[in-house]
This record gives sequence, C-alpha cells and structure tokens, in this order.
Amino acid sequence: NWVMGDYVEEAVARIREQVGDEEVILGLSGGVDSSVAAALIHRAIGDKLICVFVDNGLLRLDEGKQVVNTFQTHMGMKLIHVDATERFMTALAGVSDPEAKRKIIGREFVHVFQEEAGKLKQAKWLAQGTIYPDVIESAGAKTKKATTIKSHHNVGGLPDTLHLKLLEPLRELFKDEVRALGLALGLPRDMIFRHPFPGPGLGVRILGEVKHEYADLLRRADAIFIEELRNTYHEGKSWYELTSQAFTVFLPVKSVGVMGDGRTYEWVVSLRAVQTSDFMTAHWAHLPYELLGRTSNRIINEVRGINRVVYDISGKPPATIEWE
Ligand code: XMP
Repeated sequence: NWVMGDYVEEAVARIREQVGDEEVILGLSGGVDSSVAAALIHRAIGDKLICVFVDNGLLRLDEGKQVVNTFQTHMGMKLIHVDATERFMTALAGVSDPEAKRKIIGREFVHVFQEEAGKLKQAKWLAQGTIYPDVIESAGAKTKKATTIKSHHNVGGLPDTLHLKLLEPLRELFKDEVRALGLALGLPRDMIFRHPFPGPGLGVRILGEVKHEYADLLRRADAIFIEELRNTYHEGKSWYELTSQAFTVFLPVKSVGVMGDGRTYEWVVSLRAVQTSDFMTAHWAHLPYELLGRTSNRIINEVRGINRVVYDISGKPPATIEWE
C-alpha cells in the first residue's frame, strides 16, 4: 500500500545517507527479518550489499536452493553461499547434550561468518535484521536475570570482533510492520508468512547426536507434513496458516513394523504443531485426524527408514515447543 511505499522511500534515503558508498555485509538466514533487511538495503545501495548465507546442513528441504533462487536469481543480489555442512557435522559428531549442541552450532556459525567477512576487505558495515522486540528483549535480559531454559542463537548474535559498524534498519519495527515492509519490497508471501525456524535448525529437532542420515530422513518427512498442512483447509484457511509453528522431530529410536510380508525395524518421527500468540505458552493444535492420517501414511510410504509416526500432544508449559 502507499503508506508502506512512503516508508520504503524514507528508509532507503536514511540508509544511503548512513552508509554513503561503503560496502555492507549481511548474514542472510532465509528468515523474515534478515530477508526484509536484505531487500531494503539492496533497494538502497544495490551491489554495495553483500549477503552471506551459511548452510549449516541443518536447514529444511531445498532451503538453500530457495534462498539462492529468491535473492540471487530473482532479486539480483550479490550472495555468497557457503556450504559448511561438513564443518558443522564434524563439530557435532558424538555430542548429544542439547545445550552443548546449541553452543557448538552458534560457535561454528560465528567462525564461518567471520571467515567470510574477513575475505571482504572493503566492507565497513555489518547489517542485521534486529527488530524492535529484539531490542526490548536484550535490554530486559541485561537487567533481569532470567533462568535460561535454552540458550537461543540466531543470525543476529555476531560478535563485535568483526570491527564493523552496525546497520540495523528494522530496529524500530514490530513483526507485522516488518512483514508489510517485506511485501512492499516484493518478497514472496510464502517467505514473509513462514513459521519461525530456530537458529540451530534441525540440530534441535534431531534428538541426541546429529547425523547426516537422520537429517536427510527428517527433511523429507518434514516436507511432507508441511505440504499436507498447506494443502488442507478449514473454513477458508490452510492448517499451515491456522498453526503458529509446525514441524517434525526425529527420534533416534527404532521400532518394529511390517511392510508387504517383511518385518521392518526403523526410526520414529513425531509431528508437532502448536497454536500460540507469543511462543511463551502454546497449545498443541487439534489437527484433523484425516490430515494426521494422510501425513503418517505418506511419510511411512515415501521415506524409507521411517516406519512409525506419532503426534505430540503436549502443551507449553510443561513441555517446550521444540524438543531440545
Ligand atoms: P521453545 O522450544 O523454547 O521455543 O518453546 C519457543 C520459540 O523459540 C524458537 N527457538 C529458537 N529461535 N534460536 C531461535 O532463533 C534458538 O536457538 C531457538 N530455540 C527455540 C522455537 O522454534 C519457538 O518458536
């Protein structure tokens, strides 16, 4: 709409004035905030923006391809796509404690990003998709000493040691304003209204030790669940829209099954879908049995290696949304 159009013009002018003709680096995750920040800064300074997308091997099915397709092919941005899968997998080998896994994933991300940033000698700025609620939250975290349930990590958490000036063009915006801005900048609706995805990615959805094999099975199972949620409607809305977050969890547990006239002994996955307004508390979603049934049949038929699907009916509290 035109109000957002005016906002875009003002924001573009502000960015141009702030950075002049200096180069800017941005860590792109494919999430809403970093994507909108990238699109806005690109509108302002074009090729002076260089996006760095780190594939940690813990992303959803085809996510890397989608990011390259949207930002490089369609929007014409300069994008460095780093496939760091092996590095993350090596660092995670043999580690099964949830907090240890989170710390490793966060640390490796910083290292990979720092390496890439170090190669871009011209860059003077680091852009981040920090939004207003993040600003409030980190101010609160300094004064309150909250019990840490999970050490959160996202692309915003880069250290000062990069010696770059910070560019945070979304600092004053709420999430819904960020979404409207993203749409005004021409980002795809699916990207703007995608469910949140945690920084450690599938690393916290594969319980215990992370392995290539588990990540591959989980990606395929999860893609089926999401497709069924998107294609099943209730009163004009898809179940994807009717849930706040939905995903599949890999359980490193084998159980016995039967297929044709043979016995199987394969892995279990759990489906998780919640409704919430703030992610601090959440209800499990009362998905239709038909949708759950179809998803289960498809996963078991299409993903060899998984022979059992369960549905998580735990609220938060006492459970959390992610399993780790
Ligand atoms: P929990 O599992 O604590 O999750 O109920 C609440 C929300 O936070 C997301 N989450 C994360 N997001 N980095 C993130 O950016 C993280 O490390 C992280 N851990 C959990 C989770 O997906 C849910 O939306």
